[in-house]
Amino acid sequence: MKVALITGASGGIGEALAYKLAERKHNLLLVARNAEKLSQQCQQLAEKFGIQAQFIAADLAKPETAEQVFAITQQRGLDIDMLINNAGIGSGGPFSDLTLKAELELIQLNISSLVALTHLFLPQMQQRRGGTIINVASMASFMPIPYMATYAASKVFVRSFTEAITQECKPYGIHVMLLCPGLTRTNFNKAAGIDANAKGKGLNVEYGRSTQTPEQVADEALGGLEKGKHVVVSGTLNTWGARIVALIPNRVLTSGFARSYRQKTGM
Ligand SMILES: NC(=O)c1ccc[n+]([C@@H]2O[C@H](COP(=O)([O-])OP(=O)(O)OC[C@H]3O[C@@H](n4cnc5c(N)ncnc54)[C@H](OP(=O)(O)O)[C@@H]3O)[C@@H](O)[C@H]2O)c1
Repeated sequence: MKVALITGASGGIGEALAYKLAERKHNLLLVARNAEKLSQQCQQLAEKFGIQAQFIAADLAKPETAEQVFAITQQRGLDIDMLINNAGIGSGGPFSDLTLKAELELIQLNISSLVALTHLFLPQMQQRRGGTIINVASMASFMPIPYMATYAASKVFVRSFTEAITQECKPYGIHVMLLCPGLTRTNFNKAAGIDANAKGKGLNVEYGRSTQTPEQVADEALGGLEKGKHVVVSGTLNTWGARIVALIPNRVLTSGFARSYRQKTGM
């Protein structure tokens, strides 16, 4: 059975992608930690769209999980013809104040599990000479961001890795796409402790005019995929933002970010 595997599918952008793919009659394998939420989603999507939807409750911040997920797909006889590496977490504040454990878990989830899942599912796509991989990066992949150093660097990795394997996959007919959302109205900032209500982190991310809904991001992603795009920056303002930051030296960008953070926090 051909199936789209989406990590981080229990909320936000991943949940919206699951819904939009179910609408397009893709069978789904949803992966995240919250089993109860995933179970409800699978039932609702299967009933509403007449697709087959199943889930694996798993913690991708653990190094062994990607291989376990792959093994389960083999036991269930699933052909993963679309892999969406979307699960990701953020962190913010002075790097030295953040716990090393949390920063390393971020790297495991945002980078290592994404690389592992891609490595595990790629050979089957190569054999079938087809498939799709979407890796979710961020606007943060276009610049280093002081006081969000590890998160931004993790997304720089995702962008560089994805743009490189896009070319490696072309001879096999495998379509690879990089998705770079900007600020999106999800649980992401709250989970990272950097939302408007967070105390002491200084980032206090507030939603503004360019903030998108996860549904808008999912629509742009799948619209871009259907047009054969390899890179989708969602949102017009973000698209221009990505072009503009490419013209500014990192030294100028980073000193501006750092100054604004220190002014906000009175450091
Ligand atoms: N929101 C934004 O402003 C924004 C902007 C740019 C890029 N992005 C990127 O978009 C992607 C999705 O973010 P989002 O905004 O949709 O965030 P979200 O609403 O917080 O959703 C994150 C998803 O990842 C799952 N997840 C978190 N930790 C996990 C773990 N250890 N193992 C497995 N699954 C885990 C969560 O489910 P469970 O809790 O059930 O595990 C949830 O389904 C991320 O890669 C993020 O970096 C977001």
